[in-house]
Amino acid sequence: MCGIVGAVAHRVVTPVLIEGLRRLEYRGYDSAGLAVLDDSAQLQRLRRKGKIRELESALQTSLVEGKVGIAHTRWATHGVPSERNAHPHICRESVAVVHNGIIENHEDLRDRLRQKGYDFDSETDTEVIVHQIHEFLDEGLSLFEAVKETCKVLEGAYAVGVVSIAEPKRLIAARHGSPLVVGLGESENFIASDVFALVGETQRFIFLEDGDIADLSTEAVCIYDRNGNAVQRPVHETKLAADAVERGEYRHYMQKEIHEQPVAIEKTLDGRIRAGKVLDAAFGPYAEKAFDHIKSVQIVACGTSYHAGMVARYWIESIAGFPCHVEVASEFRYRKNVVPPGTLFVTISQSGETADTLAALKEAKKLGYAHTLAICNVPESSIVRESESTLMTRAGPEVGVASTKAFTTQLTALLLLVVALGKRNGLAPEQEARIVKELENLPEQIERVLLLEDEIEQWAERFGEKRHALYLGRGAHYPVAMEGALKLKEISYIHAEAYPSGELKHGPLALIDAEMPVVAVAPNNELLEKLKSNLQEVQARGGELYVFADVRVPMESAPGVNLLRVAETEEIVAPIVYTVPLQMLAYHVALIKGTDVDQPRNLAKSVTVE
Ligand code: G6P
Repeated sequence: MCGIVGAVAHRVVTPVLIEGLRRLEYRGYDSAGLAVLDDSAQLQRLRRKGKIRELESALQTSLVEGKVGIAHTRWATHGVPSERNAHPHICRESVAVVHNGIIENHEDLRDRLRQKGYDFDSETDTEVIVHQIHEFLDEGLSLFEAVKETCKVLEGAYAVGVVSIAEPKRLIAARHGSPLVVGLGESENFIASDVFALVGETQRFIFLEDGDIADLSTEAVCIYDRNGNAVQRPVHETKLAADAVERGEYRHYMQKEIHEQPVAIEKTLDGRIRAGKVLDAAFGPYAEKAFDHIKSVQIVACGTSYHAGMVARYWIESIAGFPCHVEVASEFRYRKNVVPPGTLFVTISQSGETADTLAALKEAKKLGYAHTLAICNVPESSIVRESESTLMTRAGPEVGVASTKAFTTQLTALLLLVVALGKRNGLAPEQEARIVKELENLPEQIERVLLLEDEIEQWAERFGEKRHALYLGRGAHYPVAMEGALKLKEISYIHAEAYPSGELKHGPLALIDAEMPVVAVAPNNELLEKLKSNLQEVQARGGELYVFADVRVPMESAPGVNLLRVAETEEIVAPIVYTVPLQMLAYHVALIKGTDVDQPRNLAKSVTVE
């Protein structure tokens, strides 16, 4: 949540800051701002409510140019989205701060600073940071020391960037609980919430650790740990290309990302399956031995990633034969957990930075799980770094806030895990070979489903006026229905709920009328007949059904029953295949409703606060 970027250079950094913000906009987009130190070492600031483009157009008429600067794109936590609450926050024209995170003791600090004569201009928790730094500067501390002392009084999570007229050639950054990277350039250095923000400027990065404070100038980056000791952190070269996040010919990132799924799945499988087998090496050097002793699995994740975990539970229990529990991270982390011996702890996260998932992982490490495995899309992320083993999805950068290719690649990766565990629990080589074959065919199958887009677009027209929708599935397709409903909610603002269709008669049937579209996924599996009776229950009550059904399913279109045929799909991979039409349906409904598809209101892609 919130994105920060900063630079110290011999050139004007305003364009670097704006481009960085553009690339970080997925983290939050209710307001944005930047502050630079100009040639006479004075602070210039510009802030705007709304998207980065508002800030960019304001820049055309205001000269905000300097060689040292910080910038921010906001996702409101404390204080409404407004120019007044937008970052950077400034104290007495002398210090400017950008912040990502939440300062939990901000009320106490605010009271104390008010008594010391500091005026507060915003409702944010962040503003205490800038006044506190100012107070320490006033006491004669250097900028670095002032930030260091300020960090000691802050409780909560933060990543901050600080500049000041007191030392106009410096940029100080600190992190505790929120992500922050340092980008290393030639006689110029940068900070940002993630690597994407800076790939146009550099490929070399340092990942700050919790408690680190970095002192950046054009010539040097000095890092100190939480005890104030100078430390050397490893420099990583990223392979991310600057154009990896371009939208190309597509109207929205979400549409591009839906269409990238066949390739993303192919990449996720690349080098991990061979000759009908899943290679143990896929999980890294520590997993092979650890997996030998696994007796059960605990999965923890949020949002779409949680839905991937729910699908995996069906697979792990039915194919690998191990008990599996799945929980949303925000619940898991605050609950007293009993850890069965030999339990593998799996986190699933696109970003690898979701605060609750990361906190749950840290908690799990204390609780004594047998091994920790992250299924993640961002190699440099905190969750990857905190986990003993990792299985990277290779979806590439996902920009659309509504997750699509991250989900289907997570499911692909999870199937690899299911086989790796299953082999240790009696999964026969022929079964393994069959699953591997289905995985190999998956990209082609998804290509075929993508061809349904025109027909789905026509269906979407009938959803534009609706206020509610119900999604139904059974077995592993219940979480698929949940994911479909989530997509519709997120981007079209239509209230959508998913139910395992057997539960219909326990409540939701009361809602059914002609105004309530009911979307169902009907793969050809052993629950088909049961699903069909559930659908008849809907039809009999005047509900309008929209069914995605396997070509082999004996069902006909009829008044109140709209049918789209999905090519023959094997049961094991069906949850991955059937997700795609639901993504397309949500996308096209959102187009009709005219919402901001890639950046839906109130949401952010990466939730780095609780
Ligand atoms: C946010 C995003 C979702 C995502 C969830 C978990 O809510 O909008 O798309 O599924 O966070 O994120 P993660 O990066 O951990 O998968």
